[in-house]
Amino acid sequence: MIHVLALSGSLRASSVNTALLRACARLTPADMNVTLFEAMDQIPLFNPDNEGHETSAVLLLREALKNADAVIIASPEYAHGVTGVIKNALDWIVGSGELEAKPLALLNSSKRSTHAPAALRETLTIMGAHVLDSGSPTLSLSSNQVSEEQALAMPDVTTALQGMLSALAQAIEARALECNAL
Ligand SMILES: Cc1cc2nc3c(=O)[nH]c(=O)nc-3n(C[C@H](O)[C@H](O)[C@H](O)COP(=O)(O)O)c2cc1C
Repeated sequence: MIHVLALSGSLRASSVNTALLRACARLTPADMNVTLFEAMDQIPLFNPDNEGHETSAVLLLREALKNADAVIIASPEYAHGVTGVIKNALDWIVGSGELEAKPLALLNSSKRSTHAPAALRETLTIMGAHVLDSGSPTLSLSSNQVSEEQALAMPDVTTALQGMLSALAQAIEARALECNAL
């Protein structure tokens, strides 16, 4: 079974990004599961002084990332930047390295967002993640009022999400082959 961890960069109860990640969990092939990390709102502000005595939410995040074969990040853009929620969570992983060589898809819900996805890609790349190119879709959802059920009823959205899951599965397989060849 392939385990994919999904991180949302929005804490909004009706977040489109979170809804899309929940939709992904219902579109998986039989040999894959997608689990949304539910404790993003419990990750404290990153402070390097606290490395070595992290909170349980930070340890949970690291463990979930370590055990995941791949990761999906869906995050909004705020003021042409990455949300503090996702950047703060990632800052806790810089030193511990769970994203090293990990296949990762960036899911962008809106074509209007260009700055944040680019910045996020740069951050994730320097952290060692294998950020997929064609497997990181940009959708055309302009409203921030799209529910999980509504997303699942949009064929263009479900096709894009299934394409992303398939690209992740391929990247995981390629990584396994590379590791076996070593
Ligand atoms: C404080 C704030 C700043 C925003 N800045 C941008 C922006 O710079 N570019 C953009 O495309 N959308 C921007 N938006 C719109 C959000 O990206 C959009 O509402 C998105 O759906 C929020 O994601 P969520 O539904 O997952 O919470 C901003 C929204 C907020 C609340």
